[in-house]
Amino acid sequence: MPHPNTDIIPTIEGLAYGGDYNPEQWPREVWDEDVRLMRDAGVNLVSVNIFAWAGINPGPGEWDFARLDAIMDLLAGAGIKADLATATASPPPWFSQRHPETLPVNAEGVRLNPGARAEYCPHAPAYQEAVVEMASRLAERYAAHPALAMWHVGNEYYRSCFCDLAADAFRAWLRDRHGSLDGLNHAWGTTFWSQTFTDWSQVLPPRISAETPNPGLVLDWRRFGSDALLALFRSEADAIAKRSPDKPITTNLMVTGDFSGLDYHRWGEHMTGPNRLVATDHYLIPEHESDIEWPAQVAFGADASRGLAGGSPWLLMEQAANSSAWRRGYFAKRPGDQLRHSLSYVARGSEGAMFFQWRASRYGAERYHSAMLPHGGPDSKVFREVKAFGAQLQRLAEIKGSTVVSRAAVLLDFESCWAAATPGQPSSDMASYPEIRRWHAALWRRGVTTDVVNPAWDLGGYEFVFAPHLYLLDSDAHLRGYVERGGTLVIGPYSGIADRNEHVHPGPPGAIRDLVGVRVEEFAPLPEGATIALDDGTEGRTWSEAAHPIDADVVASFTEYPSTGAVFRRRLGDGEVWYLATRPTDLGPLLDRLGITADAPAGLELVRRRHADGRTYLFALNHTGAPQRVDATGEDLLSGRPWTPASTLDAGETAVIRERAAARTRGR
Ligand code: GLA
Repeated sequence: MPHPNTDIIPTIEGLAYGGDYNPEQWPREVWDEDVRLMRDAGVNLVSVNIFAWAGINPGPGEWDFARLDAIMDLLAGAGIKADLATATASPPPWFSQRHPETLPVNAEGVRLNPGARAEYCPHAPAYQEAVVEMASRLAERYAAHPALAMWHVGNEYYRSCFCDLAADAFRAWLRDRHGSLDGLNHAWGTTFWSQTFTDWSQVLPPRISAETPNPGLVLDWRRFGSDALLALFRSEADAIAKRSPDKPITTNLMVTGDFSGLDYHRWGEHMTGPNRLVATDHYLIPEHESDIEWPAQVAFGADASRGLAGGSPWLLMEQAANSSAWRRGYFAKRPGDQLRHSLSYVARGSEGAMFFQWRASRYGAERYHSAMLPHGGPDSKVFREVKAFGAQLQRLAEIKGSTVVSRAAVLLDFESCWAAATPGQPSSDMASYPEIRRWHAALWRRGVTTDVVNPAWDLGGYEFVFAPHLYLLDSDAHLRGYVERGGTLVIGPYSGIADRNEHVHPGPPGAIRDLVGVRVEEFAPLPEGATIALDDGTEGRTWSEAAHPIDADVVASFTEYPSTGAVFRRRLGDGEVWYLATRPTDLGPLLDRLGITADAPAGLELVRRRHADGRTYLFALNHTGAPQRVDATGEDLLSGRPWTPASTLDAGETAVIRERAAARTRGR
């Protein structure tokens, strides 16, 4: 991981606590109650102005900051800081009416109608100019406002558009990437199906076509889409930085569900360093729809966020206090869930915990989305827990700026995830991202704190590195270096198969063949729901392949095909590399083989944060139904009680133990 920046929100004392605050939806008298209850709950940061374009800029050339002034003054008077948004995520109806070319066009070529949010084409000059003007005006007006803590650019960038403006921008991006039309023809393999371009004007976005589109086009389109939105973010961020140079700038990335929409590692480069911070939104998948339990989902969202921040502290910008309006079916968190989830994010590097939103809306698309202050009012489970967590956070102020101690990493490469999902793959079930999450959850169940990182980073500090699915890879050099210097690397099947243009490497598993010492003769994907037996009693699913050792030990084979291996191990330099020719149904036996045994009972989550000067804090979260002993020495900051190795944590309870120097030696 790169060197961490540890002071990401200098303007907030201690840890941040609050949520999206939309007072424009409420009469003025409600604002006073809001502020009173916020103070009661320990709220010290709220995100304002996210969807307020229509109020600030109600028509062409018309500007009205009176309401925002009043909100900012109210917050300043109450000692609550603002994460001030640029309001550019939702252009109002007048804007779309005046600039119809800014409405996005979908892949069918249909221009979408106004009526919701994020209704913009990232490539439309009118939108691009408007957002820079908006950010500039806000920065000029509020740079010195006492309530201002940080800037929030846009909101959850994800929009793509297939219009002619997009096509022009795409061509310019392709020229830059491939140099020439010949370069593009080579990269996309256009000799296949007679697709050779003879003029740039023939190159189009992947609009709906008669048959399977060119995978090179599909992959480059995703890269382009991510870069185009990053450019939009940067245009606003630059306009702000010129006028408000001393305040951090961020936007809320999404680590929710399948969050591989943008190449967040590239975004991370522009969201870390001086006056930048990584902020993420994380909404849980209801447990009945997922094979990953909530605490493990929370851990993944947090560990992935920390990965985007390069190991620096980061900020959980949004989570749901209860149900999410956009999930199928309403659900409620169990008592205590919210407290444990919020603390787990903090344990895993977040400098606080924020929610969408402060007060539940009475109207609009998200009127049934949960909030810190629900429709039921302050006398509610949710608000009581909101207050309780606010009080806890105040006791944890001293952990601000510390970083997370981890011994393992799971590799996540966004381009590789996209490429593995291009059309025409041998199996449509070989998605990367759910598999990465599944491996991470297996490690969570063993109590291993795991970073989720960019494979290109320095992996040297990790005892174990897991690559559940690294489909795209040009060269094994970096991974080989990690192994030779003593690391243990485990690689899942169908990895190293294609290069960055998604051209298949001859001789699978291509780029990793020499590294793992295995030759794959043919792929044999499994039908949905089918499993394949291994001779060590375990099973694989989704995928199998006829794989033979060139220079590796066969640890287990498929029972039906004893001549081919299923699990391989190769010692290399001071380390070892494992290769799997199938996706194990249960990753436990593999972790056993690696000697990764749980040193705490399943469901007792233990995570350590450490300051640069060596002070450490052990976060203990008891997700089990019974008291658990936590082997640590020091003082629990939450209860104030001394902690000894004989101390126990009640069912559902949490502790944050400031460890005594002598007890700090053990890592996790
Ligand atoms: C996202 C958005 C919020 C809100 C929440 C609801 O995170 O940023 O505006 O829509 O989802 O879950």
